[in-house]
Amino acid sequence: MAQLWGGRFTKETDKLVYNFNASISFDKKFYKQDIEGSIAHVRMLGKQGILTEEEMQAIVKTLEEICCDVDEGRLAITDEYEDIHSFVEANLIDRLGDTGKKLHTGRSRNDQVALDMRLYTRLEVLYTDALVKELLEVLLKLMEEHTETIMPGFTHLQKAQPITLAHHMGAYFEMFERDRSRLHDIYMRMNYCPLGAGALAGTTYPLDREYTAELMGFAGPTLNSMDSVSDRDYVIEFLSALSTIMMHLSRFCEEVIIWNSNEYQFVEIDDAYSTGSSIMPQKKNPDIAELVRGKTGRVYGALMSILTTMKGIPLAYNKDMQEDKELTFDAIDTVKGCLALFTGMISTMKFDKERMNASARHGFTNATDAADYLVNHGVPFRDAHGIVGRIVLYCIERGIAIDDMSLHELKEICPVFEEDIYEAISMETCVNKRLTVGAPGKEAMEKVIAVKKEYLERDWQDEVKKGVAFCGSML
Ligand code: ARG
Repeated sequence: MAQLWGGRFTKETDKLVYNFNASISFDKKFYKQDIEGSIAHVRMLGKQGILTEEEMQAIVKTLEEICCDVDEGRLAITDEYEDIHSFVEANLIDRLGDTGKKLHTGRSRNDQVALDMRLYTRLEVLYTDALVKELLEVLLKLMEEHTETIMPGFTHLQKAQPITLAHHMGAYFEMFERDRSRLHDIYMRMNYCPLGAGALAGTTYPLDREYTAELMGFAGPTLNSMDSVSDRDYVIEFLSALSTIMMHLSRFCEEVIIWNSNEYQFVEIDDAYSTGSSIMPQKKNPDIAELVRGKTGRVYGALMSILTTMKGIPLAYNKDMQEDKELTFDAIDTVKGCLALFTGMISTMKFDKERMNASARHGFTNATDAADYLVNHGVPFRDAHGIVGRIVLYCIERGIAIDDMSLHELKEICPVFEEDIYEAISMETCVNKRLTVGAPGKEAMEKVIAVKKEYLERDWQDEVKKGVAFCGSML
C-alpha cells in the first residue's frame, strides 16, 4: 500500500477500505496529463524561486523519463499505489530522493485531479470533434452525389412528399454540425486552469497561476479556488453533448436498419459491416447499426450518473467526485468507437436509387402537388384536397400511382386536369420546384452544399483553442 499520507494515523488502513478508496485502476488512464500538469507546476515553482533552477530541471527531466518509461512499457502502473498522483510522486522520489519530495509544494491532490481530468477531457473533446468532422465529410460527399436521387420523405413513417437522398443526408449534416458547435462551446468554456487552487483555499506560496495556465494552453486561471476544485460542470456538459451525438447516431441507425430491411431494400450494408446468423444461412444483419443504437443508453447512463453524483455535494472537494471518471471514460470511448464505425458503415453502404424512386412514386408522395395543380387552375384548396383524396382512393383500389391514370380517368374525377398534369406531378418536378431556403430542390440544395463545404474547410479546432469560434454556418 503506497499512499501519500499516514503521519497522523496510528493504524494501517483496512485492506477493504484501501481498495474501496483507491482509484489507480481507472485514473491511470490520465498518467500523461498528470505528468504534464506536474511539469508545468514545477516550472512555475522554479520561475518563482520556490524551487532552485537545478531542482526544477532535475524534476522536469525525471518526470519526462517516467512518462517515457510508462509509454514504452518499461514501467508498469500497478495497484500498489492509491492513485495515479501517488504513483508518479513515488516514482519521482525513488529516482530523485529528497528533491522529488518537493514536487507537491503549493499543490493539493484536489487541484491536481481537477487539472488532470480537465486536461484529459479537453483533449477528448477535440478527438470527438475530429470524428464528427469525418462523418460530416462523408455526409457532404453523399449530398453532392445525390441531389437528383429521389426518395420518399416520411412523416409518421408514412410516405409524405418526395425528397432527395442529398436532402435526407443534409438533415443529419445539420444535427452533427450542431453537435460540433456544442463541443466547441464546451472547449472554450472549460478552458481555464484550476491548478493553484490548492485543497480549496489557494496557497501562501507566491504561485504564478497565469503562467501555469499559459504553459498548458489554457485561456487563463480559474477565478475561485473553491469552485476550481469542485467544478465538474464541464464533464456534465461533455456527457450531455456526447449523449446528443448518440441520440443523433441512434436515429440515423434506426433509419439504416429500416432502409436495409427486406421490405425496404433502399440500401445494402457492405459485407464488412454486416454479420450473419448462426442458424439462418440467408441472414445478413445490421448489427453495427443496432449496437450503436443500443449503446446510446449506456452514454445517457453516464450523464445521469454524474448529474446525480454532483447534486448533493457541498463545497468544496468531496470524495464523491472520484466517481466522475469511470463512466465518463467509458462514455467517451463508446462514442468515439460508434462514430468511427458508423462513418465506415455509411461510406461503404450502397443506395438502390431505382427502389427509392419507385417507392416515392408509388406512395402518393405527389398528392400535395396534384392538389396544388388544381389550386393553380382556380380550384379552392379545400376542394382540391377532397378531389385528390378521391383520386388516391381510386388508385389504391387499382394498385396504381396517380401518374399511371389516363387523362380521361383524371378528367372524370375533375375536368380541370389537362395533359400538363403529368409534368406537374412528376417526382422531379415535385422536388425541384421546392426552392425555398433549406428545401430539397436541386438549386436550393446546391446553395446549402456550397455553404457546408466552406464550413468544413474552416479550422475550428484552431479557433476554439484561440477562444474565437462562434457557431453556425450561414448562406
Ligand atoms: N482520486 C481522487 C479523485 O479522483 C483524487 C483526489 C483525492 N483528494 C482527496 N482529498 N482525497 O477525486
